[in-house]
Amino acid sequence: MIGMAEIKLTPEEIKAATEVLESGNLRQGQHCQAFEEEFAAKVGAKHAVTCANGSASLHMYYMAEMEPGDEVIVPAFTFIATATMPAVVGGKPLFCDIDPETFLMDLDHAETLITDKTKFISPVHLFGNVYNIDELTAFARKHNLKILWDAAQAHGGEFKGKDIGQFDNAVSYSFYPSKNMFVGEGGMVCTNDDDLAHKLKFLRSHGQTGKYYHEMLGLNYRMTDVEAAIGRKQLGRLDQMLDVRRRNKAIFDERLGQMNGVYPQKQTADTTHAVHLYCIRIVPEEFGVSRDDLSAALMEKEIHNGVHYPRGLHQQPVFEEMYGKQSLPATEKLCEEIIAIPVHHGLSEDDANAVIDAIEECHTKALNKAA
Ligand SMILES: Cc1ncc(COP(=O)(O)O)c(C=O)c1O
Repeated sequence: MIGMAEIKLTPEEIKAATEVLESGNLRQGQHCQAFEEEFAAKVGAKHAVTCANGSASLHMYYMAEMEPGDEVIVPAFTFIATATMPAVVGGKPLFCDIDPETFLMDLDHAETLITDKTKFISPVHLFGNVYNIDELTAFARKHNLKILWDAAQAHGGEFKGKDIGQFDNAVSYSFYPSKNMFVGEGGMVCTNDDDLAHKLKFLRSHGQTGKYYHEMLGLNYRMTDVEAAIGRKQLGRLDQMLDVRRRNKAIFDERLGQMNGVYPQKQTADTTHAVHLYCIRIVPEEFGVSRDDLSAALMEKEIHNGVHYPRGLHQQPVFEEMYGKQSLPATEKLCEEIIAIPVHHGLSEDDANAVIDAIEECHTKALNKAA
């Protein structure tokens, strides 16, 4: 069986977590503080603020920065939290169609969405594919927008050799088990903005600025020291895990590049991909069978795969009800054609080749049947 993720902790990570459990210091404490310092140093940001999960990191950012009625441009093709978190603080997500090759936001379409209420843009480095940060930042400056980079799927990604965690205005991460770093539940916001970092630290703890003294509305969005202790150890092996993901991606790029009807997500220029997921478009008329048939053929060989995502955010019932029906053709087409294949850090070179052999076999069978 080849799974979609490798979620095993190392003996060192288990030992670090056990030491915290034995100490009794279960809540947010010295490990959270050290994790923040080490993560900020690793990505090159001035501040890093731990929190309960990736959604919480987005939610806290909007609580700190957004006014009710403000609009934020988000990709229509992403995980729902990118759009629900601004909506729960009274903001409005504007769904942007995507580029069919990179699967990232199409800025020509984004341009058409701007109104005088548009105050934010939240680009998602989707599946680890990093935006052209210069281009996005120029777009945001032109329209006076703040940028919340959603890096839940992109730990270790780089633009022009710089880690994506250091770019303005803020960068949000998730440490959910399927992610490039996985501590259980956990999140982080990185920023170079002193005031924002200060605010986030209070927001995650009921807006408490002194003992039982509360200056703002807040939540309990704290990370625990158990998770932080795991995160600190894992940060030490992030590069090693990414090396394996990148090796697997290189094998896939090479072998799938030759195959008719298979279009891997195109990596943006000047970036280092964080290889969270390896996603391909299957064009049935060229490949011979549909995405769903390929998925079933892989499952038969016990090769897990997934559809990320089967519908655009604008097609989610909750948003259709809130904002009405919209049509975003590039997103909708991608939803029909996309499939993710295993690429994770636990996948050996042989496994990676076995995945491609199975795709190749499915393609060849389809061609022979058609002949
Ligand atoms: C793009 C994106 N943003 C936000 C999140 C939310 O993170 P979490 O599940 O840790 O709340 C995820 C998680 O899947 C994600 O993929």
